[in-house]
Amino acid sequence: MNVKGPTTQLSGEVQLPGDKSISHRALLHAALSPEESRLRNILRAGVTTSMINCLRELGVEIIEANDDVIVRGGKWIQPNKPLNCGNSATTMRLLMGALAGQPITAELTGTKGLQSRPMGRVARPLRNMGASISSDNAPLVISGGNLHGIVHHQAVASAQVKAALLLAALQATGESTIHQPGPSRDHSERMLRDLGVKLQTEKHKVTIQPSDKSLAATKISVPGDCSSAAFLIASAVLVPESKLTLRDVGINPTRTGIIDVLTNMGADISIIANSKSGGEPIADIIVKHTNLKSVTIEGETVVRMIDEFPIFTIIATQSEGITVVKDAAELRIKESDRISSLLGELRKMGVEFIEHTDGYTIVGPQVLNPAQLESHGDHRMAMSLAIAGMIAQGCTKIMNSEVIDESFPEFTKIFSQLGANIARK
Ligand code: S3P
Repeated sequence: MNVKGPTTQLSGEVQLPGDKSISHRALLHAALSPEESRLRNILRAGVTTSMINCLRELGVEIIEANDDVIVRGGKWIQPNKPLNCGNSATTMRLLMGALAGQPITAELTGTKGLQSRPMGRVARPLRNMGASISSDNAPLVISGGNLHGIVHHQAVASAQVKAALLLAALQATGESTIHQPGPSRDHSERMLRDLGVKLQTEKHKVTIQPSDKSLAATKISVPGDCSSAAFLIASAVLVPESKLTLRDVGINPTRTGIIDVLTNMGADISIIANSKSGGEPIADIIVKHTNLKSVTIEGETVVRMIDEFPIFTIIATQSEGITVVKDAAELRIKESDRISSLLGELRKMGVEFIEHTDGYTIVGPQVLNPAQLESHGDHRMAMSLAIAGMIAQGCTKIMNSEVIDESFPEFTKIFSQLGANIARK
C-alpha cells in the first residue's frame, strides 16, 4: 500500500462494516440453534470468512444473501478435514468453547501467526469441564461432549476466554461461574441474555445456567465496528480541517475506551445515540480535528481499548507532552507484538520512545518521516501505519498490507473517498 502525505483534509460520512466480535458471536450462537437465524450486517472480511467456512465444515448451513446471512444450525457433524481458522484467534478460541460441548472430534488449525498465539488459557478450563484437547497451541484436536459446569478464575481479563467458556457452559450440565480480574467486552452476555439464556453478571463475575431447551434463533442487526471506527476517529482528529460523521457505530461501554481517552486529551467528538440491537447500543459519531494533550493509560482503560493501541500510538506521537502506556503486556501476544514491532516501525519514521515490558513512553509532538514499513501480518498495525503515512510529508509504503482485509476490506476505498491519497499498490 502507498500513502502520499500529508493529507490536507478528511471529510464526509461513513457507514462502518459490522462489528467483528459481535459478528463472531452471532454466527456461533445461530449455529448452535436448530431454528433459522437471519443476521444483518455481519462483518464480511477474512476473520468472519474463516468462521463461516469452519461452521460449514461442521454441517451448519450458511447462506450469504446481500445484507443478510441466514444460518441453519443445530447439532454439528464430525468434520472430515481440519478446520482452518486462518489468522483469526477469535474464530479458534470461540470455536474451541462451542466444540467442547459437541460429541464430535475436530482438528483446529490456522496460519503460522495463529499457531504462535496462546490457546492454553481456553484449553485448560475446557479440559476441567470434561473436554479433551491435545495441545495448548494450534494445531490441536478437540473431542467434546458430556461437559459439567465450572467455577473458573481467569488470570487476565480476556473476553475471548470468557466467550469460549460461556459457549461451553451453555452445553454443560449444571451452573458455571467465570471470574475475571477486571471488566472485558460483554457482547456474549448481552446477546445470550437477549436469547433468553439465564445469565447473571455481578461486577466481574458471570454465572450461567444451561437451559434444557435449545437455543432460540439469533436476530440481530450488527452495529458498525467501533474498533474500525477508531481509525476514522483518529485520522479526523489528526488531519487538519477534518470532519467525519460515522453512522450506526456500536458504543458498548466495554469497547469505547479510545473515545473516552481522546475526549480527555481534548478531542472534539459528539455521540448521538440512535438505537439498540441484540442488546447493543448504537450511535452516530461526529468527530473534528483538534490538537491533543498527552495522557497516561493504565488499568481497566487498557482492556476497554485493547485493540486500539496501534492507532493510539500514532496519536501519542502527535500529542503535546508525555504519553505513558502501562499494564498493557497483553499487547505483546496479539496479531503481532503491538509494543516492540509497532515501535520498531515507528522508529523507521524517526519516532523516539522508551519501551517498557508492559507499555511505553512517548514525548510528543514528533515529526513522522515517510518510510518503507512492514505490517508484521497484523491488520491493525497496517491500518495504523497507513494513518501515520497520511501525516508524514512524502510517500510511505506499507508492505504486506493486504492483511487489512482480515477485518476492514473497505479501508483503502473509504479513506481515498474521504480525501486521503492512498492506494493498495
Ligand atoms: C475479542 C477480544 C479481545 C480482542 C479481540 C477480540 C473478542 O481479545 O483483542 O480482537 O471478540 O472477544 P482478548 O479478549 O483475548 O483480550
